[in-house]
Amino acid sequence: MKKIILTGDRPTGRLHIGHYVGSLRSRVELQESGAYDEINIMIADAQALTDNFDNPDKVRANILEVALDYLACGIAPEKATILIQSQIPELTELTFYYMNLVTLSRLERNPTVKAELKLRNFEGNIPMGFLTYPVSQTADITAFRADTVPVGEDQLPMLEQAREIVRSFNALYGETLVEPKALLAQNKACLRLPGTDGKAKMSKSLGNCIYLADSADEIRQKIMSMYTDPNHIQVSDPGNTRDNPVFLYLDAFSSPAHFERYLPEYASLDELKAHYERGGLGDVKVKKFLNNVLQEVLAPIREKREKLAKDPGTVMAILKKGSEKARETAAATLSDVKRAMKIDYFA
Ligand code: TRP
Repeated sequence: MKKIILTGDRPTGRLHIGHYVGSLRSRVELQESGAYDEINIMIADAQALTDNFDNPDKVRANILEVALDYLACGIAPEKATILIQSQIPELTELTFYYMNLVTLSRLERNPTVKAELKLRNFEGNIPMGFLTYPVSQTADITAFRADTVPVGEDQLPMLEQAREIVRSFNALYGETLVEPKALLAQNKACLRLPGTDGKAKMSKSLGNCIYLADSADEIRQKIMSMYTDPNHIQVSDPGNTRDNPVFLYLDAFSSPAHFERYLPEYASLDELKAHYERGGLGDVKVKKFLNNVLQEVLAPIREKREKLAKDPGTVMAILKKGSEKARETAAATLSDVKRAMKIDYFA
């Protein structure tokens, strides 16, 4: 069986460092590993519209922003297909057939959907499009026959839902669809990077993100005003590193080489943490180190992004070509699906 990846993002804003450690960085590693026959990366605009249908300008504007973030991180159009979901009408058709295989109560029980409904105050007045987006996400994954879906932890319920639909489909109509599995980031700290304010999630609406497109100054300002341990008042006080976002960011980003370059008096992050926990290590020193680390990681991404942003026509041409190629793949799967469902009358 071919090794195929499909993953994607909603174009509702620029991508941030949570996206980077949670998924973008590993996508590039997977791309460079050569272990996959196909890599498909989707800008999920139709899904973004399920809760932004009243703001099409926002979704449209962020197509280019997300594409720039992808390319700047090293996703290479010769090795990975970047596509725009709405340009593949076959996905909508698949969604319609898969809807027969899932119940309303099952969708309402999906933990990710539940959490999002709460967040958006949709409760009691749920748009159908929003409620059924897990079915459409199943179409995204299966259309490309993806066996591997690199995602953040919050997407696990979507993958479970997809597997259930695939099993039902194959049991009813014969082996047709590939059962996908999630691929999570290895490093625990990368699964969910907190916001700069210490809130559990980095999110545009909370204003607690560091974006891949941020300037060096913006990054420094955001880091220097980060939330740390509120009980670590004097430098001499013992501090908590466990739910301290500064240390969680270091868990996700710092390497031994960073210590050699910027903080040679400590051999490792463990030593730095031990000092903070004992007391006698100030927040400013740790933040300055984090700033050096993040500046080093983000500068090449930002520079590449700025260069690419000068030529949006080329970026849009990449998306057009990727979407055309993706459409062929999705059409082949749809034709298998229709045959299996015995609706291929004129074949
Ligand atoms: N739901 C994903 C998110 O919010 C985006 C997405 C859409 C996706 N279709 C997908 C992810 C298919 C993986 C596979 O980030």
